[in-house]
Amino acid sequence: ETLDMELEAIEKGGYDHFMLKEIMEQPKSIEDCLRGRVIAEDLHVKLGGIQQHLPDLLNANRIIILACGTSWHAGLVAEYVFEELTRIPVEVEYASEFRYRNPIVGKGDVIIAISQSGETADTLAAIEMAKERGATILGVCNVVGSSIARASHEGAYTHAGPEIGVASTKAFTAQLTVLTSMALMVAKEKKSISENRLSELLRDLEQVPAKVEQVLKLDSAIESIAEIYKDASNCLYLGRGYNFPVALEGALKLKEISYIHAEGYPAAEMKHGPIALIDEEMPVIFIATRDSSYDKVVSNIQEVKARKGRVIAIVTEGDALIPKMVDHVIEVPNIHEMLMPMISVIPLQLLSYYIAVMRDCNVDQPRNLAKSVTVE
Ligand code: G6P
Repeated sequence: ETLDMELEAIEKGGYDHFMLKEIMEQPKSIEDCLRGRVIAEDLHVKLGGIQQHLPDLLNANRIIILACGTSWHAGLVAEYVFEELTRIPVEVEYASEFRYRNPIVGKGDVIIAISQSGETADTLAAIEMAKERGATILGVCNVVGSSIARASHEGAYTHAGPEIGVASTKAFTAQLTVLTSMALMVAKEKKSISENRLSELLRDLEQVPAKVEQVLKLDSAIESIAEIYKDASNCLYLGRGYNFPVALEGALKLKEISYIHAEGYPAAEMKHGPIALIDEEMPVIFIATRDSSYDKVVSNIQEVKARKGRVIAIVTEGDALIPKMVDHVIEVPNIHEMLMPMISVIPLQLLSYYIAVMRDCNVDQPRNLAKSVTVE
């Protein structure tokens, strides 16, 4: 028994929980995902694991991304990135819905299955069905040799290392790293991106680990915000564009481990429902970094403040406007908007972690949840 406890303490590497260790490991896990795959100065971007089926991607009529949970959120970011860079139409579906609705899928379609564990039953069954109908299956898995990795034609591993905490953190940023690299690889081959833009994006991609490191240093500031909001019973997360899936992921992290009811929404949809919930008790977390939807998000913040909501905003360093409007700001370094989710999600992971710890929740093994869902 004591030996087991000592072993566990060693595995946690000095942290109180696996989740915190895994959050803190992200600069390294992202670096590991990029190693050998992205070299900006040579304009090099290549995932060896999808080389053989690259022609399928280049000629694809459509890409369908299948996943569940946090991996599905990574898929939503990838949808925007792939469409923007490659101009291939992309759909993102919950594997559990796709497999039961007699979908139109076949030759000419490329499926990207995203799964940390590589064992999620719905995702596995969905790709098997699509494979039978003639689609090409590419797996983006973390666990080497897992069922989804084996059932795929080819794939790219996320190299995040073992993720023990039930709430996914480093696997998510690793998925974003691999999916963005994949989109850039296709765009480069397809010549749907200019050399300048490719070079700029690859350079920014290489800077992600250092920028994540910078955000991790905000942990005690985020802990203080957690202290203020730990007793909330509801929480709303809002973002637009590339930060919309980050809003969904932030809300998921909070509800998974702290049991606070949380919802993520595209900020513009707020007026079609969630705005009715806003009062002086309601914490609203805006992911409001400086990007193409910035001005719109600023108006959405004004709408919440006009109804006395309490606003926590994730903003780009140096933002002079939003800090004057909101209750709390968390500043993150600037990066190309396509890569921002890898940066802007970090404070949200930390916020839910600290809130859950303060509420005495079992952070690494939340009630009713499983790390890998092998039943449907
Ligand atoms: C479970 C886990 C989540 C994960 C989801 C999909 O719900 O608790 O963290 O995002 O399954 O898992 P996968 O292994 O397919 O990424």
